Amino acid sequence: MVTMANEIKHVPVMIKEILEHLNLSEGSCVLDCTLGLGGHSKEIAKKIGSHGLLIGIDRDEDSIVRAQQNLEDFSGRCAFAQKDFRDLDAALDNFGVSQVDGILFDLGVSSLQLDTPERGFSIRANGPLDMRMDRNSFISAYDLVNSLSSKEISSILKNFGEERWHERIADHLVKSRVKHPIESTEELKNIILNAIPHRFQDHHIHPATRTFQAFRIAVNRELEALEIALNKAIRYLRPGGTICVISFHSLEDRIVKEKFKYFAKEEILEIITKKPLRPTEEEAECNVRSRSARLRVARRIKK
Ligand SMILES: C[S@@+](CC[C@H](N)C(=O)[O-])C[C@H]1O[C@@H](n2cnc3c(N)ncnc32)[C@H](O)[C@@H]1O
Repeated sequence: MVTMANEIKHVPVMIKEILEHLNLSEGSCVLDCTLGLGGHSKEIAKKIGSHGLLIGIDRDEDSIVRAQQNLEDFSGRCAFAQKDFRDLDAALDNFGVSQVDGILFDLGVSSLQLDTPERGFSIRANGPLDMRMDRNSFISAYDLVNSLSSKEISSILKNFGEERWHERIADHLVKSRVKHPIESTEELKNIILNAIPHRFQDHHIHPATRTFQAFRIAVNRELEALEIALNKAIRYLRPGGTICVISFHSLEDRIVKEKFKYFAKEEILEIITKKPLRPTEEEAECNVRSRSARLRVARRIKK
């Protein structure tokens, strides 16, 4: 179900830099591993012309539906697959594609997911504790919050949220759920607010941000998927082709940096961005979601 769909306005992050680095021409073949609402894909589709091919992957069925609508004018040059990007090889094989000219990852959640309270991603609007990007997957945030031990929760918050108060929050969660299960994002948020001493609560970022991020990463096994997908993606990139990855927190960025470094050492990739690119001040001003974006770019070495 897609709610509020018509109200969601989406601006693709760092689109100018992405197009510059992908350096596409008529007939190019591009793999967008994180289709979302098709914001980046639409601009890419314009560049590759009617002989080009844009393959869009997303694990979220709602995103695929919305992106298909947004890309209606370019339907003849687009192919879509509802898949985890860790299975990008299966998607490309299905379409009979063995090499692509460009690859894009724009990690994290989409505005569609964040702005739909029923999906349970938002700290601001109350919803069920879900956080699954793929709603056919079995484990939701509800399951993790209500069944893991305090030690396991604490380790998720530490490793996937870099949350300083991981032990206290885990302890509060486990104590709270004795009375009744924790069912909503509002309940989760309030327990976190009670767990973090008031004087340490950050007024710039919501104090529950790190915990929400940690559970989301755990539910969707995001970091593991990214590592697997990067290993596979490089194999499909044609010599001279470019891979662009936008990440939104240091855990993702570290993985991208290390992978690029490894493939550069193997003389498979040339790193184009020694330091990650950041959005311009102007973009950060206009598009709040772009503020934490970091873009890394690498090119497949010609052999
Ligand atoms: C930030 S949004 C992408 C927005 C898109 N670039 C646009 O301009 O509309 C990230 C998307 O990636 C998807 N996603 C995240 N992890 C994924 C994974 N492992 N496999 C497939 N899709 C994934 C999410 O479902 C979400 O729709």
